[in-house]
Amino acid sequence: MIIAVDGPTASGKGTIAKALAAHFGLPHLDTGLLYRAVGRQCLLDGGDPDDAVAALAACAFPESLLLDPELRSEATGGLASRVSVHPTVRRALYERQHAFATQPGGAVLDGRDIGTVIAPEAEAKLFVTASVEARAKRRYLEMHAQGREITLEAIAADLAARDERDRSRKDAPLVAARDAVPLDTSELKREEAIAAAIAAVEARLDQPAVT
Ligand code: C5P
Repeated sequence: MIIAVDGPTASGKGTIAKALAAHFGLPHLDTGLLYRAVGRQCLLDGGDPDDAVAALAACAFPESLLLDPELRSEATGGLASRVSVHPTVRRALYERQHAFATQPGGAVLDGRDIGTVIAPEAEAKLFVTASVEARAKRRYLEMHAQGREITLEAIAADLAARDERDRSRKDAPLVAARDAVPLDTSELKREEAIAAAIAAVEARLDQPAVT
């Protein structure tokens, strides 16, 4: 079984995807981390993330980079959103994601285009959203828990800019798949959001697939 979890930054999709993976006993891939690694590598190479050639070269990042705590920073998230605009970068990362999704037994992947591009055949698709205010507050608490100094206003502005870039790009924009179940987590506590996601996947598994 493939479960696709898509949605904007800090919507809760990562938490939900991890919980679904644990609940259904499936491996999980956070695909945003791959784009973050490309953005970070581009910076380390001294390249311009808006330049398609420099961004594509950064797709050859070493595996060890995926463990770099700097990948979780807001700055790297911004770089990821810039390199992810280039179709060549998306193509370079496609195979790895598709192979993960189609491994025997299935998988859970979270990102922006899992249900639309990477695994349109997924048996269950969730599109997780939350208001900008709720997402900015969550990200703020997360950042402060990690000891990162950043204001709520700066986070909200960054989220809005990334949303706009992710939604308006030509290739694989952030959009819900036709057969995705929407889940708004603005008013939900962590455990409530997880329970709702599990219920949505179980309900989907009981239904015939949409073709
Ligand atoms: O989800 P996360 O915030 O880690 O993703 C960082 C950036 O990577 C996103 O803003 C988005 O631009 C890009 N991304 C993407 N497609 C994915 C996952 C992430 O374009 N499947």
